[in-house]
Amino acid sequence: MRRLTAETRLHPAELILPLFVREGATEPVPIGSMPGVSQHSLDSLKRVVNDAAEAGVGGLMLFGVPETRDAVGSAATDPDGILNVATRVLADEVGDALVVQTDLCLDEFTDHGHCGVLDDRGHVDNDATLLRYRDMAVAQADAGSQLLGLSGMMDGQVAAVREALDDAGHTDVVILAYAAKYASGFYGPFREAVDSQLSGDRRAYQQDPANRREGLREARLDLEEGADILMVKPALSYLDVLSDVAAISDVPVWAYQVSGEYAMVEAAAANGWIDRNRIIEETLVGAKRAGADAIMTYWATEVAGWLR
Ligand code: PBG
Repeated sequence: MRRLTAETRLHPAELILPLFVREGATEPVPIGSMPGVSQHSLDSLKRVVNDAAEAGVGGLMLFGVPETRDAVGSAATDPDGILNVATRVLADEVGDALVVQTDLCLDEFTDHGHCGVLDDRGHVDNDATLLRYRDMAVAQADAGSQLLGLSGMMDGQVAAVREALDDAGHTDVVILAYAAKYASGFYGPFREAVDSQLSGDRRAYQQDPANRREGLREARLDLEEGADILMVKPALSYLDVLSDVAAISDVPVWAYQVSGEYAMVEAAAANGWIDRNRIIEETLVGAKRAGADAIMTYWATEVAGWLR
């Protein structure tokens, strides 16, 4: 009876797996604060993406961990940069089976760890960053990315990237706008995952956790600029924002279950304090119930396997 009357159902095609690829790695490097998640070599990346495709996962979101960084994040726009190289590998390996997506943000590539370039006072320069994002978008689309995840939270980034993609002939590449992305402590383990160089924080460009209406305002702006999909991030602490955005959006709305959400559940489960699988499912169903059409989660392949 419960199965027949459930209002919300998870499906493998609505799960997206985030992945880390590390330049120069010859085997996977485990991430201490994310048990079960690694920085991949190109070879191990191929294995895990085939497993994800086999399980019916709907998409992959790729993050690069470069060997060298500089002030402007040069490796992000270099066709031989690790993220672009790995994108070509993924597109070739599983591009027909699921959606190959790339993170479009400079933080993994800059030596100061910020999501954009800095001005001479050391502040993120919004409009100079948009020029870098335009080039990065074209480099990623050239490499075969089918969907770009604009996670940098610069004002005007959706319009700038759409124009750059269209001018380069990439009219069919999809823009996922991180519309409501909060300055969150839940990104902690991710900083280890990408060897982040950040000192300080991102409060000048990410949102204040205290603000609910602001999430809607950011979503409306991104829709006006041409976003194809909207993201709310993190998931667990922002289900009200997710619900608000889903209520006004006429494009798909996704939620990102971030590194800290993953780490909390794994840590408590490792201590025997919670029922791991039950809680994983509950967090995902909760995000769907709140309005997520799809969910980015480090458990994507495992959960897809349960659902089959
Ligand atoms: C920025 C980015 C971050 C995450 C995804 N993209 C870090 C940040 O904004 O500080 C975090 C994802 C996670 O915690 O799982 N490129």
